[in-house]
Amino acid sequence: MATITVLGSGAFGLALAIMCHEAGHEVIVWSKFASELEEIRTTGESSKLKGVKIPKTLTMTEDIRCVGGKDIVIVGIPSSFVRDVAKDAAPYLSSETVLVDTSKGLEAGSYKRMSEVLHEECPHNPIVVVTGPSHAEELSIGIPTTVVAACEDVRYAEYIQDILTTESLRVYVNADVIGCELGGAMKNIIALGCGISDGLGFGDNTKAALMTRGIHEITSLGLAMGAEFDTFSGLTGIGDLIVTCTSMHSRNRRAGILIGQGVSPEDAVKQVGTVEGFYCCRVAYGLAKKMGVSMPITNELYHLLFEHGDVRASLGNLMGRPKRHECEHYITADTLAKIEQES
Ligand SMILES: NC(=O)c1ccc[n+]([C@@H]2O[C@H](COP(=O)([O-])OP(=O)(O)OC[C@H]3O[C@@H](n4cnc5c(N)ncnc54)[C@H](O)[C@@H]3O)[C@@H](O)[C@H]2O)c1
Repeated sequence: MATITVLGSGAFGLALAIMCHEAGHEVIVWSKFASELEEIRTTGESSKLKGVKIPKTLTMTEDIRCVGGKDIVIVGIPSSFVRDVAKDAAPYLSSETVLVDTSKGLEAGSYKRMSEVLHEECPHNPIVVVTGPSHAEELSIGIPTTVVAACEDVRYAEYIQDILTTESLRVYVNADVIGCELGGAMKNIIALGCGISDGLGFGDNTKAALMTRGIHEITSLGLAMGAEFDTFSGLTGIGDLIVTCTSMHSRNRRAGILIGQGVSPEDAVKQVGTVEGFYCCRVAYGLAKKMGVSMPITNELYHLLFEHGDVRASLGNLMGRPKRHECEHYITADTLAKIEQES
């Protein structure tokens, strides 16, 4: 039995809290917002995770000191707020506590991954990233799901694998933290694009093209940043991309559908709620430029979302790009040198 604090009483935080509670761990859920906890206490449910019964025996608090002395602290907060929450929690953390990041995004301005942000704020704690195709709505009701626990020191990833594994959740371990985190953050951008395509009334061909060329550009960025090629064909790469681009549970896709139907990007994000891909697109656009990586889909989405771009013009730009070979740019100079060295 482990002692676990879950930070955030949104969809994913609650799904993991319920699962860990039912598995017999001692779980407490923290929220900054009294109203969220009050709703759960009075109705036994949360509007963030509709239709899911939240056990009365699950403890909840607004006191951030609840992270103190725990085996594990799970971060289930949208990426824009992770640094602030980590700063507030840091003084109360013991250095043995394993932090589990589930937040999918990159920090605006610094381009940092969430594990890097957490490491800056909580430098003494081991950090494991848990990511993969796992809608909270399905995980919380025991639908078979697979995720990855990623940490360079795989002993910590294996510890989290042991804790989170249940009959309905299978957890794999991966030491490629960069690849796992990038896949989770960047697929939200492509899901927005797939939503826009659906909203415009395009079909499966277009979506398959966006997903396939999407993972290509995510992989290119990942390789330039030092990730492993194989990770992008795994659960945190193509796996998470598939689930996000094809499901109505995906808020990124739902926001995209609204945009495709003519709603402004700002209004679509307001209507849908947590749309990580919207914020990540701006960061990824800057990051791709900084790294010198070609990311045509991300670029066009950036113009659409932040520069009042025209969707038909963007489509024309993508379809009319110079002719290419399919696998160009996959292999960066660094990777090529590494392969040559190893052979
Ligand atoms: N929903 C999913 O299926 C799912 C799956 C995997 C990963 N994630 C990731 O988990 C993270 C949270 O997503 P979610 O779906 O639970 O979002 P959500 O909108 O359902 O809930 C987010 C929760 O974060 C907390 N929060 C929001 N703003 C805050 C602030 N300023 N300060 C402190 N706490 C704040 C609140 O408790 C809120 O309920 C995201 O990064 C998302 O990408 C979600």
